[in-house]
Amino acid sequence: LVEEAKRAIRAAASLAELEDLRVRYLGRKSELSQLLRSIGSLPPERRAEVGKQANAARRELEALLDERGGELERRELEQRLSADRVDVTLPGDPPQPLGRLHIVSETRRLLEDVFLGLGFKVLEGPEVEYDYYNFTALNIPPGHPARTTMDTFYLDGEVVLRTHTSPMQIRAMEAEGPPLYVVVPGRVYRRDSDATHTPMFHQLEGLAVDEDITLADLQGVLLEFARAVFGPDREIRLRAGYFPFTEPSVEVDVSCFACTRDGSPCRICKGSGWIEILGAGMVDPNVFEFVRDRGYDPERVQGFAFGLGIDRIAMLRYGVPDLRLLFDNDARFLEQFGA
Ligand code: PHE
Repeated sequence: LVEEAKRAIRAAASLAELEDLRVRYLGRKSELSQLLRSIGSLPPERRAEVGKQANAARRELEALLDERGGELERRELEQRLSADRVDVTLPGDPPQPLGRLHIVSETRRLLEDVFLGLGFKVLEGPEVEYDYYNFTALNIPPGHPARTTMDTFYLDGEVVLRTHTSPMQIRAMEAEGPPLYVVVPGRVYRRDSDATHTPMFHQLEGLAVDEDITLADLQGVLLEFARAVFGPDREIRLRAGYFPFTEPSVEVDVSCFACTRDGSPCRICKGSGWIEILGAGMVDPNVFEFVRDRGYDPERVQGFAFGLGIDRIAMLRYGVPDLRLLFDNDARFLEQFGA
């Protein structure tokens, strides 16, 4: 019996088969176990002899089972390893496409950099705004004609989606006394939609208030900005304009330039050789009256303010023909600007 068991164990081809053999030869119902259990009924003089042999046989089989078990385990592990081995001839994972900043975000950051370099702080403000900040404190009282031209989204009588970033002029002055040098990028909203208007677009507001600020300071800052953003050869031109919160007000043009993408002249550049890029002016003393108690005495401080369209600047830099392309988020449009 022991010889038969040994042969079977050595021949076992798998761990499962080996387990069957363990049950068969060493299990509770195996002959060996039965023999050991029946020792008590043997004549006393045979008990020691039979017990010794049976126990020796059991130890021998146990050792053999362990040995064969180890062998089989190693072999099965080897088989699994070679089956799972990586096939280096398979093609690798496809390259992950690289994203990039949207050209509006990139342009916003560029503008922030330029004005930070000129000593301005960057602030942000609420897109849902009180009528007071969006209009009244900017010298646009109820009934003023400028209100009707703004295409305002009203949330209720007193609350609007801001139509420009200019309300942050007031909030910035309320928060901090002069001297004040801030720019405020952000989303603004107007009820309008065509190739050059979208209901949401982006502006960057600038405000500088100090003693002895003049229009020449505004000109210098804007020339610096135009050259940083559109190239070192740019000139700027100020034309008389009108905004309720600046006096005098100007519209600012930048001299013609080539779009950065392919170097060909922008089609927006045809004609006079000047492109309008922003509105600006000297802060109207009436505006300072709303924050006089925060240290803005119009007898003592002057300021300039400007507001520019970030999207429009992105379009000019890249020669984008339709504003709406910026907000469709069509990957084919976004990919054109590279990674
Ligand atoms: N807020 C004005 C607009 O949206 C732009 C502007 C800002 C003009 C600051 C003058 C000074 O059209």
